[in-house]
Amino acid sequence: MNQVLAAQRLFDLTGEVALVTGASSGLGARFAEVLAAQGAKVIAAARRTERLAELAAAHPNIHPLSLDVTRFEQLPAKLEEAEALAGPLTLLINNAGIAGGLRIVDTPEDEWAAIQKTNVDSVWHLSQAFAKMLMARKGSGAIINIASLVATKVGVSSASYAVSKAAVLHMTKAQALEWARHGIRVNAICPGYIHSEMTDDYLASPAGQDLIRKIPQRRAGEAADLDGTLLLLASPRASGFMTGASILVDGGHALA
Ligand SMILES: NC(=O)c1ccc[n+]([C@@H]2O[C@H](COP(=O)([O-])OP(=O)(O)OC[C@H]3O[C@@H](n4cnc5c(N)ncnc54)[C@H](OP(=O)(O)O)[C@@H]3O)[C@@H](O)[C@H]2O)c1
Repeated sequence: MNQVLAAQRLFDLTGEVALVTGASSGLGARFAEVLAAQGAKVIAAARRTERLAELAAAHPNIHPLSLDVTRFEQLPAKLEEAEALAGPLTLLINNAGIAGGLRIVDTPEDEWAAIQKTNVDSVWHLSQAFAKMLMARKGSGAIINIASLVATKVGVSSASYAVSKAAVLHMTKAQALEWARHGIRVNAICPGYIHSEMTDDYLASPAGQDLIRKIPQRRAGEAADLDGTLLLLASPRASGFMTGASILVDGGHALA
């Protein structure tokens, strides 16, 4: 019978090296801190490098990396740069994302294109480069894609974003299927409404307050509400037999 591990050991990430995209604010900054607190070395990547420098200054395990996920041609070299900073990567958290708030008929071509490029195409390209790197050295690892509640539950004025997150969810399953045999697990987190720079203005508005009243738990989440799910999916000891899964963390919103 397998040994029963204490929770501390089950979620210990010592020896793991994680790249977190969109780590300059909100969920990504929290993900970087949580992974580092469990012993992982973390590459915190984004465009606002001054924010990353602040994060890194507070955590010896966090290293900043200037990264624009839409510069696809640079991504393989950026992964090599990350490895030069912290060692061979084992975890990729595809978190960088942008939102849109227009109805379909009002959405200009450039907004649709920017959302798909940042939220979908970058996940495709960065995951592909990450998987190739691991396969070349026969290393195992895990990818966590940040999708959304709206990947499965649409609302008005968020179609471009919802479609992009549905694609991320489907991409998660496709990646999981192709890469399981290579020892790469791929899972997704689907957060509901979580306080961040992306959502705070909306959540404070009358429409946002109205929405919060419809969430069964009667509140929006905090980034910390995702800590446990992140650690579950990141730890090979805790979720070694999970791949292609998505976990909803939404205060019951999908039920309403
Ligand atoms: N908050 C929510 O309610 C919620 C719910 C479901 C899903 N999500 C998803 O969670 C993720 C994080 O969102 P958040 O709420 O934390 O929003 P946020 O505070 O606005 O953070 C978005 C992050 O994405 C980065 N980013 C955007 N475009 C980028 C690019 N081209 N290259 C590199 N990084 C880029 C930003 O960094 P720079 O600008 O510094 O590059 C920033 O760090 C997103 O994928 C979002 O769709 C959020």
